[in-house]
Amino acid sequence: MDAIKNLLTRNASSKLTMPMPSSEQMQIVYQAALRSPDHAWLRPSSFIEVSGKGLEKLSKIFEKYAKENVPDLTDEKLAKYREAPFRAPMIIVLVCNIQEHPKVPPIEQKLSTATAAQNILLALHAMGFAGYWRTGKLAFHGDIESHFGLEKHQAILGYLYVGTPTGKQKTIPTMQVEEYVETWN
Ligand SMILES: Cc1cc2nc3c(=O)[nH]c(=O)nc-3n(C[C@H](O)[C@H](O)[C@H](O)COP(=O)(O)O)c2cc1C
Repeated sequence: MDAIKNLLTRNASSKLTMPMPSSEQMQIVYQAALRSPDHAWLRPSSFIEVSGKGLEKLSKIFEKYAKENVPDLTDEKLAKYREAPFRAPMIIVLVCNIQEHPKVPPIEQKLSTATAAQNILLALHAMGFAGYWRTGKLAFHGDIESHFGLEKHQAILGYLYVGTPTGKQKTIPTMQVEEYVETWN
């Protein structure tokens, strides 16, 4: 697909089904992710790719995390956490491995992982797949990282739900560039 067209037509899709990308296609997707801007080449980003039986493991993690961290948890809410991973055939957990560096603070490393996530979404779109970045209570609240066996310096920045988009796709809004851009000549 033409590169500019790919940028302009990327569309998050919440209804994702099989087929999911092959391991050969995911190689390219991760190469794209690892080409994200990266101050001092610290390589802060890593990924946990979850599919198949892995989704059941993730479901157990989400369920346990919700029981321990979400106040006023009803059975209905708990079921939502448990069932969340089954909304797509593949989930990529976005991890930022924060290092101490005199010139590169943690925020820059997290921004690098965020740009890696966008590269993933764009690469997937170019191949006919789609993704949906989710955080909710399962990132940034409580210590979700420990449930994955991650260490203190490793931060989960979200989950990319991945698959083939199905159903009616949402209309991409027309944006008025002038409302967002100030030009200094
Ligand atoms: C860091 C981040 C976290 C997000 N978390 C959620 C989320 O938890 N739930 C949700 O419905 N959308 C979330 N979104 C938004 C969707 O991924 C998506 O961008 C949105 O539905 C708009 O669709 P579009 O990207 O095609 O414009 C998040 C986006 C970002 C950048």
